[in-house]
Amino acid sequence: MNQEPKPKSGKKLRLDKILSHLGLATRSESKKLAKQGRIAVDGKTVKDSGLQVDPELSSIEVDGQPVRYREFVYLLLNKPQGVVSATEDRYDRTVVDLLDTEYLAFEPFPVGRLDKDTEGLLLLTNDGKLAHELLSPRKHVPKTYEAVVLGAVDESDGQAFAAGVTLDDGYKTMPAELEIVRNYVLDDESRSDIRLTIMEGKFHQVKRMFEAVGKKVIFLKRVTMGPLELDPALAPGQYRELSEDELRALRGE
Ligand code: URA
Repeated sequence: MNQEPKPKSGKKLRLDKILSHLGLATRSESKKLAKQGRIAVDGKTVKDSGLQVDPELSSIEVDGQPVRYREFVYLLLNKPQGVVSATEDRYDRTVVDLLDTEYLAFEPFPVGRLDKDTEGLLLLTNDGKLAHELLSPRKHVPKTYEAVVLGAVDESDGQAFAAGVTLDDGYKTMPAELEIVRNYVLDDESRSDIRLTIMEGKFHQVKRMFEAVGKKVIFLKRVTMGPLELDPALAPGQYRELSEDELRALRGE
């Protein structure tokens, strides 16, 4: 993975560094491209890949194609089951392993965690400041989960979650909102489809909240995080960049 420090916006950088940061060409490939006259800056062919350029102010083209410079990427992933929310892992595939090379150059990381067997909305970015704010316990960013639960979830569970339940380690959860979508019987067992919105993110929180009321989560999917919603067009394992509107909403603008 690219270990170069991230360029800061508003200053001049070597052309080859810009192209490598964007994952478009290695340093030696940039040198070759420049020699071959395939790189242009502000409409003029540039033969020296070491030229200092302000990527915010200048337009760069490779083979006539404009290069879009940005410092950060923001990816909305529908995390599939079976991959871990980490950037590297000795045994398991990670969410970063699902990304195309063009995004790896940014070194994105998951904002928070979903369990290996949980699917759904996961934001990946290299914007540490935004990630920090979203994860700050003081911010109480709401997250909604859909779950299949073994047992007949009822109004008393809703009241318990609204009041806060005590987890196995003694922690009392903040008020959470439960919606019972349906109760049914499958294979002679009571089951419930629910939606639960929590304002915090303790380890295995949703599963442990149901354990606290004597029930077991057998399927879990996150569908919202703050203003972001899981895009129904994304199959598990698929991702896309956030839209301008989504990014603005996330920043609270
Ligand atoms: N709560 C859980 O129990 N697991 C998750 O992955 C997310 C929330």
